[in-house]
Amino acid sequence: MSKSNSIFRLVFRSFPISPSRNTFVSRTIRRRTLTTTANDMTVDITATDHETETDTTPAQTAWSSKMIAWQAHSYGTIDDLVLTSNARSPTMVAANEVLVRVKASSVNPLDVLMAEGFGQVLLGTIRQAQQLSLHKPVEFPLTLGRDFCGEIIAKGVKVKSFEVGDVVMGVVPPFHQGCHSEFVAVPEGLVAIKPDHLTIEEAAGLLYTGLTAWSALKLVGGLYIRKATDKNVLVIGGSGGVGNCAIQLLKQWGAKVTTTCDSTAINLVKGLGPDNVIDYTAKDARQQLEEHGKYDIILDAAGISYNKIGVYTPLLKGWTCSAFITLRSPILLNTDSYGLVGGMVKNAIDLLVPNILSGAVFKGSSIRWATFLPIECGVKELAKLAEEKKILIPLEKTFKFKDLKDAYKRVQDGHLRGKVIVTFDKPSMDKARLTN
Ligand SMILES: NC(=O)c1ccc[n+]([C@@H]2O[C@H](COP(=O)([O-])OP(=O)(O)OC[C@H]3O[C@@H](n4cnc5c(N)ncnc54)[C@H](OP(=O)(O)O)[C@@H]3O)[C@@H](O)[C@H]2O)c1
Repeated sequence: MSKSNSIFRLVFRSFPISPSRNTFVSRTIRRRTLTTTANDMTVDITATDHETETDTTPAQTAWSSKMIAWQAHSYGTIDDLVLTSNARSPTMVAANEVLVRVKASSVNPLDVLMAEGFGQVLLGTIRQAQQLSLHKPVEFPLTLGRDFCGEIIAKGVKVKSFEVGDVVMGVVPPFHQGCHSEFVAVPEGLVAIKPDHLTIEEAAGLLYTGLTAWSALKLVGGLYIRKATDKNVLVIGGSGGVGNCAIQLLKQWGAKVTTTCDSTAINLVKGLGPDNVIDYTAKDARQQLEEHGKYDIILDAAGISYNKIGVYTPLLKGWTCSAFITLRSPILLNTDSYGLVGGMVKNAIDLLVPNILSGAVFKGSSIRWATFLPIECGVKELAKLAEEKKILIPLEKTFKFKDLKDAYKRVQDGHLRGKVIVTFDKPSMDKARLTN
């Protein structure tokens, strides 16, 4: 089998929503209540009627058809998010899904952007394709939130790796309802047992940024088929969530890593084990980047603007399939602005033109776009590294559930030094129940 074939198979075989795993078809079934799915699901609500050591929510929050959630009822600003105790609870639609009572969740830049409407055209089209429907799916109310830690309260009959009562960390693709809510339903391939030594908050912040870094480096960067041990990699923005994970993954794989961050983040970033840390505000930053180059991969985990990529491409090695990988691809923005077809045409232009103008293609290198991908084997690798204490999850700040808007504002303000977490604390949840 050719190497490109093996990547293709990796993506589609491990993608928990791939057609080959029947879930795609299963999702055409309208979401039903747990009582009506009792034949094909193991439903063990009573098993949640005890408090685990780390539990912060009371026993009476076992599954019911209504739940507490922060939701958007239209696209707007963070202030338009609404806390409700009347949100429709998710239910499992496939036998490989688990239903989780969320205990903590992280806030990512994507949540802030999605609240403003970012990605609505492409994400809406994917939701529509999943439902095999000709009608535009109902977008609102929209629950945001991409990764979480919580307790499994029910599972489908095909779920073999987990039991009801397991405390797991997990991730939800952006085209699904998110997890800034009391419950979330996800395929078992997107959850992993929370390692004992991690706090609920740390576990809640690992998988979205971890899988983004993993997908960017392994799949887009080619490290799934190429050895990392002889690679020299630059991670721009080592101080943020994706940068933190990228540095640690690369060091585990044996690559040489240089990273950039602000002077205030240098100690934090050094603790993650890169070979070189460069203060990007220093006068000689460029010279230092050149001293440690040239690079096989440059990963932009800082979201630098698209027109600044040309500043970095001369630092790539020539004729070695080297790559500048940006996580700030214009795919969603273009489809929002020009519609699905127009957006795809614009995407092709936006990919080709910088590759040509920067001269990258004439030196055997390229500018590539990466994105978060919900890949099961990535979840497994990240969970294994976490279990072996080989990956740290620095936290910027933890907020209570009632203060979720403040958490979003903290992410919007930028200059993060790790993950922003929201905990589903009992007083906040009780108050939401009383006031909504
Ligand atoms: N496409 C996808 O699926 C996907 C998924 C996840 C993330 N992303 C994108 O990837 C980027 C990183 O995400 P994240 O969650 O890690 O965000 P984050 O936690 O906000 O991290 C960004 C970090 O970069 C630093 N930074 C900003 N400008 C920099 C520069 N010029 N040089 C070096 N460091 C700089 C920031 O700190 P200072 O400003 O204080 O230096 C911050 O610590 C964001 O743009 C996000 O939107 C995309």
